[in-house]
Amino acid sequence: MYTLMDLDTIDSTNAFAKRKLTDFRDDGPTIIKAREQSSGRGRFGHSWISPKDQNLYLTLAEPRRRELQLVQYSYAATHAIINVLKSYGIAPQVRWPNDLLVDGKKICGILVEGTSKGSQPWAIVGIGLNVNMDKALLAAIERPATSLQAVLHHAVSVDTVQQQTIDALLAALAWACEDPRRCQQQYLALCSWMEGTVVSVHTTSGVVKGVVEGWTEDGFLLLRTNDGTVLPVPQGVVAH
Ligand code: BTN
Repeated sequence: MYTLMDLDTIDSTNAFAKRKLTDFRDDGPTIIKAREQSSGRGRFGHSWISPKDQNLYLTLAEPRRRELQLVQYSYAATHAIINVLKSYGIAPQVRWPNDLLVDGKKICGILVEGTSKGSQPWAIVGIGLNVNMDKALLAAIERPATSLQAVLHHAVSVDTVQQQTIDALLAALAWACEDPRRCQQQYLALCSWMEGTVVSVHTTSGVVKGVVEGWTEDGFLLLRTNDGTVLPVPQGVVAH
């Protein structure tokens, strides 16, 4: 069971969820969906271009499940979107920590944030999936981006993708609770193509460049820098 809030225009579904937390039920997820966002937010202060009725902008907010750390919400959301894309015959590439790419171009971004209501921690899981985005807008995005329509060469119903995403996300969260370890292992296996590649990771304390060595038990990226040091990087935005 979940509560669905269908909004027209909002600044950001994640920001809205955090503002309205006290109004949300404590016994299950609230899912907020908007037709457009005027200040869609990406990770590390990036903006997320969110034109009306072209894409999916959705946030799930819920009291954090006992079995799940915040990072596991992001693994579950990734598995969910992979399943949605699979139903369209698309096999995306997963770029640690949160990007889904098709032909090297980003199709989906996930923004997981933690907050709290009283002493109860909450998870805020934002998903932006490009569905029928206008070609000119796609081209205007700073980094290579694509959409379902661009990949499939036909338009797709945003409402259908929305329902598929909700169903897949709830199923992935239930699975993650049953087997959080397997959920993480499968997630990291999907990122393993990055091993041996040279990446630049934009972190809160600057850019670190190096060769991907693998991941720690906690899912931190292990980066071998020029001087041979292996650095664990907990979060960041990766560029190849
Ligand atoms: C990223 O790749 O940087 C994450 C992008 C997340 C975008 C989604 S759209 C729905 C939700 N509301 C936001 O403002 N951001 C997320």
